[in-house]
Amino acid sequence: MTTALNASAPLTALQVMQDAPVIPVIVLNDVAHAVPMARALVAGGVRMLEVTLRTPQALACIEAIARAVPEAVVGAGTVRTRADAQAAANAGARFAVSPGYTSAVGQACRDVGLALLPGVATGSEIMMAQEDGFTELKFFPAMQAGGPAMLKAWSGPFFDVRFCPTGGVSLQNAADFLALPNVVCVGGSWLVPADALVQGDWARITQLAADTRVLRGT
Ligand code: 3PG
Repeated sequence: MTTALNASAPLTALQVMQDAPVIPVIVLNDVAHAVPMARALVAGGVRMLEVTLRTPQALACIEAIARAVPEAVVGAGTVRTRADAQAAANAGARFAVSPGYTSAVGQACRDVGLALLPGVATGSEIMMAQEDGFTELKFFPAMQAGGPAMLKAWSGPFFDVRFCPTGGVSLQNAADFLALPNVVCVGGSWLVPADALVQGDWARITQLAADTRVLRGT
């Protein structure tokens, strides 16, 4: 968190994962929420922000954060196609997160200079991502697909892969994941509740981000 990340240098997936214990998974329906929300997270010590491409406003939100909040590093989530990767990079995203993996998405992110955290839920998907050179992966949906026990099982055959479990992760169970040697960080939507956005309750978002400090070093 204290490390400066040069805004012009390409990031690695490991840099994205190592910055904080939690990558917030963010859904924004209003461009006006983007900048105050990003500033609120940064104030709470979380600067690696995944804005999901799930709403018509997502790209404009990424663009607004990239322009107005240089202390944050904004990435795009829910990247599923080459077009998503291109649009995310054009909007100023510096990393991408995908819910699954295809070689096309992997290549597209490389072509546009986005660090990618590819989503996997099975051994075969891990092997496909590894074949394409990806060794830092998102485990999604983490709780539904086996939770910490699944990651323990994978640590044998996939000893050289590191994970960001996402999906069903909360402040209550994050430490169970972070205690595993093959987990670098977790992802979760709990830092940015929809009602806090609607109410403009930026202090609550800052507090939720600051609360994750207890997870540092776990
Ligand atoms: C998602 O892509 O929606 C993430 O996995 C967030 O899941 P969560 O809401 O369970 O944190």
